[in-house]
Order: sequence, then C-alpha cells, then structure tokens
Amino acid sequence: MRIRKAVIPAAGFGTRFLPATKAQPKEMLTVIDKPLIQYSVEEAVSSGIENICVIISRGKSAIENHFDKNPELESFLEIKGKTDFLREVRRISDLAEFCYIRQKQALGLGHAILMAEKFIGDEPFAVLLPDDIFDCRIPAVQQAISIYEEYGSSVVILKRINKEETSKYGVIDPEKVKPGVFRLKDMIEKPGPERAFSDLGIIGRYVFNPDIFDAIKKTKPDHRGEIQITDAIKILLEKEPVYGYLFKGRRYDAGDKAGYIKATIELALKRPEFKKIIQDIKIE
Ligand code: UTP
Repeated sequence: MRIRKAVIPAAGFGTRFLPATKAQPKEMLTVIDKPLIQYSVEEAVSSGIENICVIISRGKSAIENHFDKNPELESFLEIKGKTDFLREVRRISDLAEFCYIRQKQALGLGHAILMAEKFIGDEPFAVLLPDDIFDCRIPAVQQAISIYEEYGSSVVILKRINKEETSKYGVIDPEKVKPGVFRLKDMIEKPGPERAFSDLGIIGRYVFNPDIFDAIKKTKPDHRGEIQITDAIKILLEKEPVYGYLFKGRRYDAGDKAGYIKATIELALKRPEFKKIIQDIKIE
C-alpha cells in the first residue's frame, strides 16, 4: 500500500534548547531561513506524502500559522511587487494537507504518535521527528519507505553511533539481512555503553504498520512516566518483523544546541550566498 500519510510529533517542551524554547516552539527555530519543521514537511512531501498530522500542544500555534495562508502578508507582498517572497509564502501553505492534534500532556514520543491513530486509520504511515534535519540525495524518509515497500514491515532509520551516544539513542540488536539492512532482534532505549547491543542507533524517521498503535497501548511508561516509541517497537517485534536501515546522507540533531549550530554552518556553506562570509570569519 502506498504511504500517503505522515505524523510529525511537535508537542515536546524542547528543554535542551531552553531558554530559546520558553515561549516559542523548538520546531519553529530557524536554520538559515526556514523553521526546523519545514525541513521535515518538505522531506515528507518530496517522498510522496500528501497528508500530514502535526502533534502539537499549548503554545504551538505558530506552527499552524506557518503552514496556513496569510492573506494580509500576501496582499502586502503583491502590492510591493515582492513576487519571489509571495511565491514562497504561497508555496508553504500549499505543501500538503495539514491536520493538527493536541497532545494534552507531554507523555512521550510513543504517546504523541498514538494521538494520530484516528487520522491514520488502517494504513502504513511515516513518522518524522522535526528536530532531525537530513541532507540526503534521496530524502531520508523516502529511503525508509523503499525498505518498507521491499519487506512489507515497519522500518526504523539507523546511524552508527559512538560509545557516548549510546546514552542518547535507542540501540538495536541487529541481524544483518543485506548491506545496510538489518532485522531487529531486540532494542533498548538509551542503554549506555555497557548495555548497548551494537553501535546502531535509531534516529528520527520511521515507517510503521498501523499495528504500532496496539503496541503503544500495551507499552508501560518508563521511569520518567513517558511512553517511549522504542519500547512500543519492542512489543511490535513480538508480533511481526521490524527492519532497520542505515540511511545514506547526512543528518543533524538540531534539537540540541551543538547539532543546531553544526546544521546551520554546514547547510549555509552549501549556499553560494553565505559560503564566502563563513569562510572569511576570523576570530581575534
Ligand atoms: P525530543 O525528546 O527530541 O523533544 O522528542 P523534546 O522533548 O521537545 O525536547 P527535549 O528532549 O526536552 O529537549 C522528539 C520529538 O517528539 C516530540 C517533540 O516535540 C520533538 O519534536 N514529542 C516529544 C512530542 O510530541 N510529545 C512528547 O511527549 C515528547
């Protein structure tokens, strides 16, 4: 079945980015000239997604406004003859069909995804975490969709992690299927170097069969009271295979201050209008 729907969870507090995220959504922080969430939306759309459900919470209305029409701004730009900006502003509101669902309490990523159950219905769907920005020849979520189409089972995207990163990511116990593709035997959330099964960490792109919703419902909250998607995938594994794919391209964890700075500099270096300015920076 073709994957047409995606969920973008954006209801978290973004504590790693405080104080910037005290009164504005982390997902609206700008990398160069676009908010983080727009990178995910564009990636989804270029991978064939038509319907996007964004999970939001109180204080996140800037996200809804960003993907809506803005008639006053459009007529202002029209009168001023700023046609390039006008085209861009209109393009954003036409990117996809959007739906917004509130997660009333930040009870974890698994819980946020469960909020979209009715929107998804009985079809496979993609999940994109907006603080992960990818720079890939084939969009990262498209890479996950291709593996889903090949194996007909849920897919997580993987990256190689170092020892310190085992405390930041979900880590899988892999069974190699072919180069870059693994069948998950087990997984554990943020295990730390002693308990990690491998150096393969799960990052923010997934394709799920709708069975994931039952698995999330069976998932117990962790010690912080959050329902983790990693724990739900572990339950899903008891019922059906789940695959991992070592994606091709670059990825930035822009939900973290260091990753955000790296994303901004590297992506700016790829833009001719900024490249020289950055290369010319000299610190006294
Ligand atoms: P993160 O853990 O990266 O985001 O979750 P966070 O919780 O906002 O940030 P920190 O860790 O406190 O700095 C990944 C994505 O899942 C969403 C977040 O908004 C983010 O886009 N999320 C997380 C939810 O929608 N609901 C939750 O309960 C938790």
